[in-house]
Amino acid sequence: MRPELYVAEIDALVERLARDLSAEYARAIAERGVFALALPGGSVAAHAFPVLATLPLDWGRTHFFWVDERAVPASDSESNYAAARTLWLGPARVPATSVHRMPADGPDLAAAAVAYSQELTRILGAPARMDFVLLGVGQDGHVASLFPGGAALADARLVVAVGDAPKPPSGRLTLTLPVLAQAARVVVMAFGQSKAAVIWEAIERVDSTLPLALVLRRAQRGLVLLDDGAAASLARGGERTAGLRQPKN
Ligand code: 6PG
Repeated sequence: MRPELYVAEIDALVERLARDLSAEYARAIAERGVFALALPGGSVAAHAFPVLATLPLDWGRTHFFWVDERAVPASDSESNYAAARTLWLGPARVPATSVHRMPADGPDLAAAAVAYSQELTRILGAPARMDFVLLGVGQDGHVASLFPGGAALADARLVVAVGDAPKPPSGRLTLTLPVLAQAARVVVMAFGQSKAAVIWEAIERVDSTLPLALVLRRAQRGLVLLDDGAAASLARGGERTAGLRQPKN
């Protein structure tokens, strides 16, 4: 499916994200009484989480998962969980029962992947369908810890260990493409010109095999939030649908 695109300054992108997340929360609560979301780390966490933490939502009915986690202690500043705890879970006083941390800090990543798959199934049932997946994008087009050409990209399990991530640290856990793409809502955020080339490729080239392109093509309801730098290779405009725009040259 073609994702919706929105290009604006970062503050406006975060506001749009907050509105979108609130709407998806309302939909999920009305349907099932709970809301399940999966979070990234990196710049998206830094910019968005402080604002999302202020939303007037019932965190006791919200299940927090992660799209990926780095193999570092939960207290490490590189930990995606630590970022969320500092910027969202702590300030918003999210109850511990709502938080499903990805356990990538143990000695056996493969066993941790199995344990997290079981946790997904325990909370979400089967198929494990998130209400909301939030993703950042790497300069190489990776999403979560699904890197271009990596074995994890073709894995049909729910969660897998990655031992050779090109972005440090090399050890990670990640949700797989089927789990990310089957979410009721998939929102991708990217900031800065260093991401412009992969954003252009993922949106404009129907045959792109970038992880970003694969998740956007499979997602039923995708939204891509870009600052001017990340959108620099796309045609100018405000809010549009991908595919209606042309590259600049
Ligand atoms: C991680 C993230 C990862 C991130 C991208 C983009 O653990 O590294 O979840 O997938 O979203 O690498 O990171 P930046 O937004 O910081 O460039």
